[in-house]
Amino acid sequence: MFDVEKIRQDFPMLVKQPELIYFDNGATTLKPQCVIDAVTSFYTEHTSNVHRGDYAIAATNDRLYDGTRKIFAKLINSDPLEIAFVHNVTAALNQIAYGIGEELREGDVILLTKAEHASNLLPWFRLAREKNLKIEYIETDSQANISVESFRKAMHEKVKAVSIAQVTNVLGSIQPVKEIAAIAHQYGAYVIVDAAQSVPHMKVDVKELDCDFLGFSAHKMCGPDGVGILYGKKELLEKLSPIFMGGDMNARFSSDTNMILKNAPIRFEAGTPNIEGVIGAGAAAEYLMSIGLDNIHEYERKLRAYFIEKMKKLDNIELYNPDNIYGPVAFNGKGVFAQDAAGWLASKDIAVRSGNHCAKILHEIIGTDQTIRASLYFYNTKEEVDRFVEAAADISLENAVGIFF
Ligand SMILES: Cc1ncc(COP(=O)(O)O)c(C=O)c1O
Repeated sequence: MFDVEKIRQDFPMLVKQPELIYFDNGATTLKPQCVIDAVTSFYTEHTSNVHRGDYAIAATNDRLYDGTRKIFAKLINSDPLEIAFVHNVTAALNQIAYGIGEELREGDVILLTKAEHASNLLPWFRLAREKNLKIEYIETDSQANISVESFRKAMHEKVKAVSIAQVTNVLGSIQPVKEIAAIAHQYGAYVIVDAAQSVPHMKVDVKELDCDFLGFSAHKMCGPDGVGILYGKKELLEKLSPIFMGGDMNARFSSDTNMILKNAPIRFEAGTPNIEGVIGAGAAAEYLMSIGLDNIHEYERKLRAYFIEKMKKLDNIELYNPDNIYGPVAFNGKGVFAQDAAGWLASKDIAVRSGNHCAKILHEIIGTDQTIRASLYFYNTKEEVDRFVEAAADISLENAVGIFF
């Protein structure tokens, strides 16, 4: 039984600051006590490195750290050895682009959308510049949704990789990844999924999607900062060259520069990893699974529908994604600079983000590079939405205050 009031008790920030309305979950999420405990206990009870020590505490950490692969494998229905721990989804996407890049040749095409986060554009842009590749964009509707038909039109023989967000970070467009993967694979193209805004909010099954690579960040799913999950199909991960070289990821090397690397996934984890972060991320994934990703998705979808219906009634508000069924509510106060409006909301103890949200070419779809993004998570409530809408109704040039009021 999904009980939001009970869930809120798990989050010290919500308990300690009941007046705070935290609607900036697209940027990062609050942490439940179980995650805080998992990280704290590493510092207070069992600090050590991993894969290096021959004593009991080190063995405990090896078990906890590598055991976390099993937790994430369960979360996204993969094999544990298809899970590598990196710094964030940005690192995962860079790693994927770097690795795939070795295979690409002049004139090859990477297919993206204009709704992507910088993390899913810039690694490909760099590759395109270095290797004379072409970037092409899949056509979307005005709320950044790809239709299967538009994807079919965008696909051709020269396309070697398709990289898209499963849920876009400003408009919450849910893309038909499974259908896209099926079409892209007919052309032999790789399918890469930026799952930063999907894995935290819905059940994601990599086998069902049949994507080749997928990445997400633990901090956006109640976990610690500095941990990203890089998934790749086993045979593809094994072929991918790592960006970082160093300790742990090598099997042996000699003075003549010969080096033999370990197999995936350790090959992608050069140097001491964020051990406590990974253990905490595992606690977060278990926490989300204990609530149920389907329950989370359903609750958020209903809350968002309630939110958007109320926002639609405000004459002073322009909405950019009223027809999308999921994700953030992106809007502006008519004639009011987004950051000023966010400042007004902040004066009412409401946390949102304003600006372009790192999606710096999305303006080519929605016609503005300044929006306010109110992004929900499963611990938000109808009462918070009511308070938010009340404050949003008063967004005006007269009321606008700078963010540093
Ligand atoms: C869709 C999407 N991709 C990538 C990122 C980058 O995430 P991180 O900063 O954790 O690497 C974000 C974060 O805002 C995002 O929403």
